[in-house]
Amino acid sequence: MVTKGKLLVGFVSSNQDSNRLFSKVLKRGDVFVFPIGMIHYQMNVGRTRAVAFAGFGSQNPVYVNGKFCKDPRRVTANDFYTSGLNVPGNTSTGPGAKITAVDVERMPGLNTLGVGMARIDFAPGGLVPPHTHPRASEIFLVMKGKLFVGFVSSNEYNYTLFTKVLYPGDVFVFPKGLPQFHANVGKTNTVVIAAAGSQNPGRIIIGDAVFGSKPLIDPKVLAKAFALDLDKVKYLQAVFS
Ligand SMILES: *[C@@H]1O[C@H](CO)[C@@H](O)[C@H](O)[C@H]1NC(C)=O
Ligand SMILES: *[C@@H]1O[C@H](CO)[C@@H](O)[C@H](O)[C@H]1NC(C)=O
Repeated sequence: MVTKGKLLVGFVSSNQDSNRLFSKVLKRGDVFVFPIGMIHYQMNVGRTRAVAFAGFGSQNPVYVNGKFCKDPRRVTANDFYTSGLNVPGNTSTGPGAKITAVDVERMPGLNTLGVGMARIDFAPGGLVPPHTHPRASEIFLVMKGKLFVGFVSSNEYNYTLFTKVLYPGDVFVFPKGLPQFHANVGKTNTVVIAAAGSQNPGRIIIGDAVFGSKPLIDPKVLAKAFALDLDKVKYLQAVFS
């Protein structure tokens, strides 16, 4: 809640929701909520100091899950089943990695169960760019290839970077909500089986959320936030959107 001044605020929804930007200018007395795990910002756009009080809902988070339960009488075994994860994903688009997710979209029976998985294929040089999963920790098993992985801790832990190069049989865990990346640093394809602690972990690709939101975040906010010229921000916005 804003108690003084004028604040420009916004948050960007996750990839499944097309990285939509929700933004507002807030005046004294206005209240705005930032959903759990979403990239968000606040900027003073007034002529005076601005003050806001924030409350955090970590006791009882309302997950943006959005799936209703199916009538139990209509549930069949196929709701708990999917196939095709033996087929490599097509890595020829984007940065050379393809995530084949088994989440509540693909497997309705996962709803409310708090687990999910994925097969991830990487072409040589392929990358899953820095991203977060707002609703789940994720654990990787490398089946094939050579993968460079890492995550960055939060500000209380001084943004420490933890990295590892993984080979077949190696397992690595990414704690919930932290920025992480995975890069194929081998000469062959790399294949990973990932398990997640949510039926709907969500994925926020940081570059897409920050520079490719719909509509775009005011470039002045990003220029200040990233110590960039406006031109560079506009260039990045053109690349990501
Ligand atoms: C992979 O995707 C590319 C680009 O969309 C497409 O041209 C190609 O046919 C696909 N390959 C397979 C095996 O589906
Ligand atoms: C973070 O940095 C501060 C200041 O250098 C230090 O006092 C603190 O011990 C560090 N915390 C961790 C978890 O490394």
